[in-house]
This record gives sequence, structure tokens and C-alpha cells, in this order.
Amino acid sequence: MNQIVAFVTGGTGGIGTAICQSLFKSGMRVVAGYNSGGNHDKALTWQAAQKELGFDIGVAYGDVTDFESCKKCIENVKEQTGSHISILVNNAGITRDTQFKKMEKNQWDEVMSANLDSLYNMTRLVINDMLDHRYGRVVNISSVNAQKGQFGQTNYSAAKSGIHGFTKALAYEVANKGITVNTISPGYILTPMVAKISSDIQQKIIENIPVGRMGRVEEIGSAVSYLTAENSGYMTGSNLAINGGQHMY
Ligand code: CAA
Ligand code: NAP
Repeated sequence: MNQIVAFVTGGTGGIGTAICQSLFKSGMRVVAGYNSGGNHDKALTWQAAQKELGFDIGVAYGDVTDFESCKKCIENVKEQTGSHISILVNNAGITRDTQFKKMEKNQWDEVMSANLDSLYNMTRLVINDMLDHRYGRVVNISSVNAQKGQFGQTNYSAAKSGIHGFTKALAYEVANKGITVNTISPGYILTPMVAKISSDIQQKIIENIPVGRMGRVEEIGSAVSYLTAENSGYMTGSNLAINGGQHMY
């Protein structure tokens, strides 16, 4: 039997790497999407390092903000795996934090495009195959800061909130076709994205997390494996909060 193919956008990043590893351990054929401004060597180095660790993961270049680039990326995934994509994890994202009163138009546009337009671009290119095969799993990575808001993140909170609206509407449309669509809203997870926050602000953030620490990337990876498992078919349109108790509702 052919292995199920999983494609993870931002798959070579902090959380993306853990998602790829977890899906690989779940027995899937995994391909990691990357952009890195077209630095293909960086992705190949990442791939070799994963192989050393025992994870045989494909890589595919694509800019999630650009529909034509996504088309080429999805074709590449299909070519290298010889199969359609059954599992899509929309994980790529960026921040451009600043107070709204100082926010430039490009800081708004870039965040909306990478975090929200990307869901249209990638999901639109895989959903018809999932419908044809009457099976699919889509997981969209949002954020605790979509749920609670955050100083300096009007752009990011808006885009990440939009993600769950997308999840719910698409979940409705494909619910009786064997396809689930869910959101995960991580709290602060120690990755390059969080490392950009100044250390004094990081300290203040940790003080407000009841568990008393930032999250680990593996704690998101295992949740993606759960949501993408065959026997998770009854969970759809949900928003899984994994935030150390920072925001309970
Ligand atoms: N709450 C309330 N007031 C705040 C504040 C906060 N969290 N942060 C700053 N301020 C206030 C300051 O006290 C200061 O007040 P005064 O002018 O009265 O003195 C004012 O805002 C200006 O402060 P700064 O000069 O530091 O403002 P800035 O515009 O240069 O920096 C910022 C703002 C870059 C957004 C900075 O506050 C910051 O980095 N905050 C953290 C944002 C954050 O958590 N980002 C998450 C990134 S990781 C991620 O997004 C992953 C995920 O999903 C969780
Ligand atoms: P990260 O290490 O910076 O990874 C972000 C990934 O997104 C990178 O792999 C990057 O790829 C990719 N990406 C960015 N722009 C892209 C584009 N235009 N096209 C294709 N790929 C692009 O950060 P992370 O913490 O792992 O974040 C992963 C996801 O989790 C993001 O959506 C983030 O918003 C979300 N999240 C993070 C946290 C946290 O605390 N870390 C919390 C909640 C939610 P390249 O490096 O190849 O460009």
C-alpha cells in the first residue's frame, strides 16, 4: 500500500521540523516546504541533518504568498512522492511586530499574506485531490495571540484569527467527504520566531504562563499527529489551544 503523503509548509522551521518528525514517526511520507529567499542549500543541509537523525523527509521550494510558486511546489511534491497529498499542514508564518500607530503598510501586507493568503494558496491546490479520494486532513497553525490579542501584533492577531474562520467554513464544506480541517493555536514556543523578542519581554511573558515555561516544539508536533490520524475523523472545525494555560476559555 502507498504511504500517505503529508506536506508541511514552513517544514524546515522550528515548529515545522517537529511536525515533520512527528508525522514521519506516524508512518507518513513527509515533504517539508521551504522558502528561505531561494536559498536551496540551506534546505538541503536541513534535509541531510534530518537524515542523520533517522528522518527521511523530502523538501520542496515554494513561496506561500505567491499562488504560482505554490502551484510549482505542489507539483514538485506530487512528482517526488508519486502520489497526491492527503495531509496538509499550513504552518508557514511570520511576524512584523510593532505598535499599530507605527505600523507601515508593508508590515501589515506581509503578515496577512504569509499567514492568511497562504491558506488559500496551498489549500486550494490540494483540496480537490482530497475530495476525489474522499480522504484528507488539513491542519492550520494559528496562535494564542489570535485568541487573546497581543501588544504590537494587530497584523498578526488579525491574520491568525482569520485562520480559524477559514478552518470552520472549509470544515463545513468538506465534512461529509472524509476530510477534516482543524486549527492549532500554540502559545509561546521556543523557536527562532520567539527568539526575536527581547529577553526582558520574554521574561514578562513567561511570568504570565501558568505552566511556568514556554512550550516545546514536540508538544505541537504530537498534536498534529493526533489531528491527522485516520481515527481522528470525528474532530473537525476545532481549535486546539496548546498554551500552558496562558489563555483559558
Ligand atoms: N503591554 C503594555 N504596554 C506595553 C507592552 C505590553 N506588552 N509592551 C510595550 N508597552 C509599552 C511600553 O511600556 C511603552 O510605554 P510608554 O511609551 O508609555 O513608555 C510603549 O509601549 C512603547 O514601548 P516600546 O518602545 O518598547 O515599543 P516598540 O514599538 O518599540 O516595541 C514591541 C513594541 C516590538 C511590540 C514590543 O513590545 C514587543 O516585542 N512585544 C512583544 C510582542 C510579542 O509578544 N510578539 C510575539 C512574537 S512570537 C509570536 O508571535 C508567536 C506566537 O504566535 C505566540
Ligand atoms: P520559524 O522557525 O520562524 O518558522 C517559520 C517558517 O515559515 C519557516 O520555516 C519559513 O520558511 C516559513 N515561511 C515564512 N515565510 C514563508 C513564505 N513566504 N513562503 C514559505 N515559507 C515561509 O517559526 P515557528 O515558531 O516555527 O513558526 C511556525 C508557525 O507557528 C508560524 O505560523 C507561527 O506563526 C506559528 N506560531 C508560532 C509560535 C511560537 O511561539 N513559536 C506560537 C504560535 C504560533 P523559510 O525559513 O524557509 O523561509
